[in-house]
Amino acid sequence: MGPLQIKDILQTSPENQSVTVKGWVRTKRESKNAIFIALNDGSTIHNIQAVAEPGQFSAELLSTVTTGSCLKITGQLVESQGSGQAVEVKIDDILVYGTADPESFPLQPKKHSLEFLREIAHLRPRTNTFSAILRIRHALAFAVHQYFNDGGFFYLHTPVITASDAEGAGEMFRVTTLDLNKLPRTEEGAINFKEDFFGREANLTVSGQLEGELGAMALSKIYTFGPTFRAENSNTTRHLAEFWMIEPEMAFFELEDNMNLAEDFVKKVITYALIHCKDDLNFLQNRLAEEDKNKPQNERSIPLLEKLSFVVDNPFERLTYTEAIEILLKSKPHKEKKFQYPVGWGIDLSSEHERYLVEKHFKKPVILTNYPKEIKSFYMKLDEDGKTVRAMDVLFPGIGEIIGGSQREEDYDKLLGRVKEVGIDPDNLWWYLETRKFGTAPHSGFGLGFERLVLFVTGMSNIRDVIPFPRYPKSAEF
Ligand code: 4AD
Repeated sequence: MGPLQIKDILQTSPENQSVTVKGWVRTKRESKNAIFIALNDGSTIHNIQAVAEPGQFSAELLSTVTTGSCLKITGQLVESQGSGQAVEVKIDDILVYGTADPESFPLQPKKHSLEFLREIAHLRPRTNTFSAILRIRHALAFAVHQYFNDGGFFYLHTPVITASDAEGAGEMFRVTTLDLNKLPRTEEGAINFKEDFFGREANLTVSGQLEGELGAMALSKIYTFGPTFRAENSNTTRHLAEFWMIEPEMAFFELEDNMNLAEDFVKKVITYALIHCKDDLNFLQNRLAEEDKNKPQNERSIPLLEKLSFVVDNPFERLTYTEAIEILLKSKPHKEKKFQYPVGWGIDLSSEHERYLVEKHFKKPVILTNYPKEIKSFYMKLDEDGKTVRAMDVLFPGIGEIIGGSQREEDYDKLLGRVKEVGIDPDNLWWYLETRKFGTAPHSGFGLGFERLVLFVTGMSNIRDVIPFPRYPKSAEF
């Protein structure tokens, strides 16, 4: 299993036993009586303190022990003399695995801006903030698998390369092996995709849902958890070009069951983080409080742990799109013409509208249902009125839409009608349509944007800071 990690050593009772610690130097401090090295290996937010006596090591060796260098320290685990830690390592030996020239190593023990850290994404996991985020991200991913496994769901691996546009929004990245300088042409002059690798046009998937539905029509309850890609040119703090989506799909679930599952699911995974990521969440909470100090009282955010507990402990508000529009029409910002975008039945709610509902009106997560069919995807089940569909969006404070889902149209004729209505060629979706011909069943599902969840749980404000190597317009460096 490899050497003991710092996380475990910090929990060990000190009995002068010999220990080996390996990690990266966060700080080195020299005083008259001792040299203190704070070492971190990423297993925990906490450093282990290693102490040497002055003169114990050559000046030459000590000059290579600088912030960012990587060391193997052997010594004895003793009770710490100082405050702030229970144990420390009394150093016997130091091996420098790798130096980090202080002149050029960009991470120094001081506060760096998140923008700057984005430019050094190869090194930012070595900061407290990013290591905390990455550990929380891991815990949430683990909790997702645990939740579904415990609930009788099967993890279905849906393809990353597809020939269909699941959301019908045309925001796909093309996958091709054609020589772009020498494109093969048909007699009519169009690009001849028959000569491409797959013998047809292919793209990176925007969602695993359509294949997920095929799985649910056999295994009853499945979920996907994989990368999805959207070529939308949204330079916002909520959008990535590559993000991870969790998509459960359930046979025999109606919209109400779908909402119950979505609410229970997010609450349980957040609870998992609250239980298992205490140190990291506390660190991020303090970080936010520190940032808030410069803000006026009324602009300060609720402490992170309080915000998370609030979401876990209170039922989400549920209402229809039509009811939401009525609330918006009666709202102060609408009456005072403060909204940038107009409000009226049929609009695609913009983020200012969603935020008004969640942050000002209800002050808690909201599930909006039964949207007009025109603003939703073709696969959603039509309501009896023929105007709205059984859609559900879960909206979170500070985030906006975190989950989008629906009951699916299980009627073959109605689905075919919608496919044609939105201009999709039914021949491209013959396999999807066939599930409605052979043993169709009521079914539902939803998609949770994993990074939006991590954003909420960590309290960070830019989605580019909650994925190790973000992809967004004009950026695919690392
Ligand atoms: O609402 P969306 O587009 O729904 C679907 O893709 C459905 N096929 C899901 C389903 O029913 N199985 O996306 C679902 C979620 C959004 O609520 C949001 O959290 C996230 O995916 N999302 C993004 N996250 C980061 N960057 C983007 N560009 C995102 N687009 C959507």
